[in-house]
Amino acid sequence: RKMEGYRRFLALLVSALLLGFVAVVCSLVWVFGYREGLGWDGGAAEFNWHPVLVVTGFVFVQGIAIIVYRLPWTWKCSKLLMKFIHAGLNTIAMILAIVSMVAVFEYHNAKKIPNMYSLHSWIGLTAVIFYSLQLFLGFAVFLLPFAPVPLRAALMPIHVYSGLLIFVAVIASALMGITEKLLFSLKSPAYKESPPEAIFVNCLGLLIVTFGALILWMASRPHWKRPPEESAKVQRPNGGAPEGVEAESTMTDCSNADRSDVGFNSDAARKRNFKLDEAGQRSTM
Ligand code: HEM
Ligand code: HEM
Repeated sequence: RKMEGYRRFLALLVSALLLGFVAVVCSLVWVFGYREGLGWDGGAAEFNWHPVLVVTGFVFVQGIAIIVYRLPWTWKCSKLLMKFIHAGLNTIAMILAIVSMVAVFEYHNAKKIPNMYSLHSWIGLTAVIFYSLQLFLGFAVFLLPFAPVPLRAALMPIHVYSGLLIFVAVIASALMGITEKLLFSLKSPAYKESPPEAIFVNCLGLLIVTFGALILWMASRPHWKRPPEESAKVQRPNGGAPEGVEAESTMTDCSNADRSDVGFNSDAARKRNFKLDEAGQRSTM
């Protein structure tokens, strides 16, 4: 059953990576094959950076960032190393999202198109603002050593919920953006006549939704959660769920010998996870 669970996770991961990669390629095929390509000239080619960067960074990279803690072969790596990877990927996603915002706003200003009139732009900009807040709070509370343990414990469920909510909002916004763009730019034949570009880009939307669905599934299975730190358990010998217990190895490598049992196949790891499941709790550190 352990191996089965591992295989299922791998199958989902490979599918998600493939879908995400194909979505990025499709966004490039769209702007180069059907649109004006990429450029930074205040024209349509500058606008085209908007969908490309947002699909690459805000959807694909953010999706991967959300599930890195769940890769079973990283459970023997220190939590600190995984925090760096999680935070780093989210930072890359943030930068790409910001550049994509600059691209649309510059395009709108150059073309004298009003800003922030659509529901797409409202949801989209709100997602960007909350994402930067999430990133800042994540750094301040979970990475820097200053936040007290009870604060970390209190904020972790909110961090997870708001992270997933923002991810969903980003996907919703991407779908609205795709629909708007097709309605605006397909003239003859029009969108409603289903020209090849319309079918192709509708499929890009389907890819994005399916990618998001897989990420949300992987991120919400309790038994695929990263097991709590070994030393956290030692501090609570009664086996109570060590929520809010800081257990940080200062080492950032993946070969810490005395943690080598924290693998996917480890019964100890699974039992720890099971106890957490029962309590409905999560390792906060
Ligand atoms: C405009 C955000 C994805 C197409 C905008 C604006 C924002 C935004 C804030 C307003 C710019 C302005 O008023 O000057 C986002 C976010 C996305 C996203 C956060 C993350 C998924 C997409 C995608 C497309 C797209 C995938 C597909 C082409 C458009 C279009 C506009 C626009 C056509 C101009 C019309 C309007 O303001 O609604 N976007 N966007 N967006 N976006 Fe996106
Ligand atoms: C967990 C989102 C930034 C630290 C999570 C989870 C999500 C998430 C969805 C749940 C993952 C899971 O259950 O496996 C985000 C987003 C961020 C962000 C969208 C950026 C906008 C950060 C930063 C840090 C951080 C900067 C600081 C290191 C953590 C920790 C966990 C976590 C410690 C718990 C992992 C575990 O369950 O073992 N984050 N996060 N996050 N995040 Fe973030």
